[in-house]
Amino acid sequence: MNDLLLDVRGLRTAFHTAAGAWPAVDGVDLTLRRGEILGLVGESGSGKSVTGFSLLGLIDPPGEIVAGEVRFDGTDLRTLTEEQMRHLRGNRIAMIFQDPLMTLNPVLRIGEQMMEAILTHENVSRESALARCRDALGMVGIASPESRLQSYPHEFSGGMRQRVAIAIAMLNHPDLIIADEPTTALDVTIQGQILYRMQEICKTQNTALIWITHDLGVVAELADRVAVMYAGRIVETGPVADILESPRHPYTLGLLQSMPRMTKPGQRLQQINGMAPSLSSRPLGCAFQPRCTHAVASCAEQLPPITTEGTRSFRCHAPVERTVWPA
Ligand SMILES: Nc1ncnc2c1ncn2[C@@H]1O[C@H](COP(=O)(O)OP(=O)(O)OP(=O)(O)O)[C@@H](O)[C@H]1O
Ligand SMILES: [Mg+2]
Repeated sequence: MNDLLLDVRGLRTAFHTAAGAWPAVDGVDLTLRRGEILGLVGESGSGKSVTGFSLLGLIDPPGEIVAGEVRFDGTDLRTLTEEQMRHLRGNRIAMIFQDPLMTLNPVLRIGEQMMEAILTHENVSRESALARCRDALGMVGIASPESRLQSYPHEFSGGMRQRVAIAIAMLNHPDLIIADEPTTALDVTIQGQILYRMQEICKTQNTALIWITHDLGVVAELADRVAVMYAGRIVETGPVADILESPRHPYTLGLLQSMPRMTKPGQRLQQINGMAPSLSSRPLGCAFQPRCTHAVASCAEQLPPITTEGTRSFRCHAPVERTVWPA
């Protein structure tokens, strides 16, 4: 069996405005093996959600996927019809949103929604579908699944609702889950429990996961690999341990230095000066250059090519030396 599940090449998604077409995702390459967990991390507006939605073919005007290939299990999803994509979504690829109410219908009992999620895609008996619903709720740590199937979404707490949304995503044993900041609104204890469950489920069921977050701490706990996004591009990617131990892109280093959990006790936190550029004001060359303390002359003029070092890569003319971090 081919281990490579997702192979994205040169993905470009633009938003059309009166002033022109602005690329929110600007030539993204991503690969994911079966069962692998990728953390997609970056500041607000860097294009993480647009990347996730692009993979699922869920970009509506004024947005448009203008270039690239999204090869999933050997098929370029951009060549599929809307009908074929609908079949894939919720079946082989599932999405979990920050707000579980984007998944859950407030006026239907949880059981009805879960049953529908199965029966839309598969011709199985109600008994076996019901058993799968109970299993899925149990898997995300919901006690008494039998009786909880009778509840409405508002009868659950925020954390429990998110678990239900995760259970629904898992129902049809997808090959890939794309999770867009699903634990950001939850307290750290519940977030930790959910991360633990997701990791366990992905590893035991060989489900690949893209976890979108602005929090490198979450990536450190959960992911096998990380892709750091800045202004629509992936600026650094590789195994989590390598990237956190010795970031090569100054932006990745900046993210690490600004995180309380990543610095040593008593060490001063630093911040990345300045703001991420808006879509319409992205500079030529490296988009991070105006904020970068490592920048050299070519950074403002030329987009850095991708440099590959073993299993990791980065886009930078003046990479961080390996000895810089941790300070
Ligand atoms: N419907 C839209 N119309 C116009 N521009 C959009 C639209 N959706 C997203 N964008 C722009 O695309 C860029 C990337 O947005 P995206 O939502 O992917 O960021 P993000 O990394 O997910 O940020 P956050 O962490 O805040 O969720 C932003 O500049 C945003 O303004
Ligand atoms: Mg987002």
